[in-house]
Amino acid sequence: MIQSTNTFDSSVKAVEWSNGRLRLLDQRVLPAVVRYLEFDDVNQVADAIRSMVVRGAPAIGITAAYAVVLAAMAAHKKDPHLWQEIIQPDLERLIKARPTAVNLAWAIGEMQKLFSGCDGDPEPALLARAKEIHEQDIRANRTLGDLGSEVIGKTQGVLTHCNAGALATGGYGTALGVIRSSWSKGYIKQVYVNETRPWLQGARLTTWELMQDQIPVTLITDNAASLLMKSGRVQWVVVGADRIAANGDVANKIGTCQLAITAKHHRVRFMVAAPTSTIDLHMPSGDEIPIEERPENEVLGCLENKIAPENCTAWNPAFDVTPGALIDAIVTESGVINRPDEKKIRALFTP
Ligand code: MRU
Repeated sequence: MIQSTNTFDSSVKAVEWSNGRLRLLDQRVLPAVVRYLEFDDVNQVADAIRSMVVRGAPAIGITAAYAVVLAAMAAHKKDPHLWQEIIQPDLERLIKARPTAVNLAWAIGEMQKLFSGCDGDPEPALLARAKEIHEQDIRANRTLGDLGSEVIGKTQGVLTHCNAGALATGGYGTALGVIRSSWSKGYIKQVYVNETRPWLQGARLTTWELMQDQIPVTLITDNAASLLMKSGRVQWVVVGADRIAANGDVANKIGTCQLAITAKHHRVRFMVAAPTSTIDLHMPSGDEIPIEERPENEVLGCLENKIAPENCTAWNPAFDVTPGALIDAIVTESGVINRPDEKKIRALFTP
């Protein structure tokens, strides 16, 4: 793994392929340090996904697609005839790196579809597909951003949670894609963001990303969301998703469900913005979605500082599931689903 530092340019790129290597913007140290880490080894990429160098469902999926290219290049070098077998343990390790975001398994599945047609060096075909997955994601975000902004229309303010922006995707963002499009059309005046304990994706990443684009953003503690809604400052909550079940239940960053419940009480509307690659029709409902539990030290402290007393225990689920019944709209690149249910979700996939 190699480190390089960069000055920031306004089109944030969390994931990049450059000169036969994968470059990841190290999101653990943002916004204080802007540095890229470079990878040529699939197992190091799996570690980077687990340790949150790269995070956010679509960005993890795109990273995994490029990681398959790295794995195939190495395996083909070892044995040009058996590379597809050699690669299997690498793929399993990659899939297990973070279990909740379906985009990871989806992207690896897309790459595997090409294996049987690869005669000779697999790199050109696999790299072309990984780049396509990356570009498709950016296009999807621009489309769903535009669709979502029209659902919100002209209003005052929105609240978002975690980071579902360019940093969490191929570019532009899902929830932040909707917010970017709404802002550029003059539809919204103010964005509020929850700090999002314990990783502080809201405080560190979403604020930083929106400030690069001069979009007015105000940070609140996670606990202030209910009062914010009561104050009338926000009309919509807009979040991303890690996995959407066939019935419209949505797994997203821990705290999302309590925001949806609170929004219902205050008559604030609730939108989930996600590409169709985040919809998992194999999951009948949110109850079946695997919820990642992360190390307790992430909760016992804050960044590098220890907070809780010695020997205190903690529980650290990274995601929760919001029932579809609490969601006003799921916005994808293929269309908007108002008040989601299984019939409407499945219809999105029928031509
Ligand atoms: O733990 P993280 O930072 O990977 O969690 C990210 C989220 O929960 C996002 O909202 C989700 O992945 C959608 S990103 C477009």
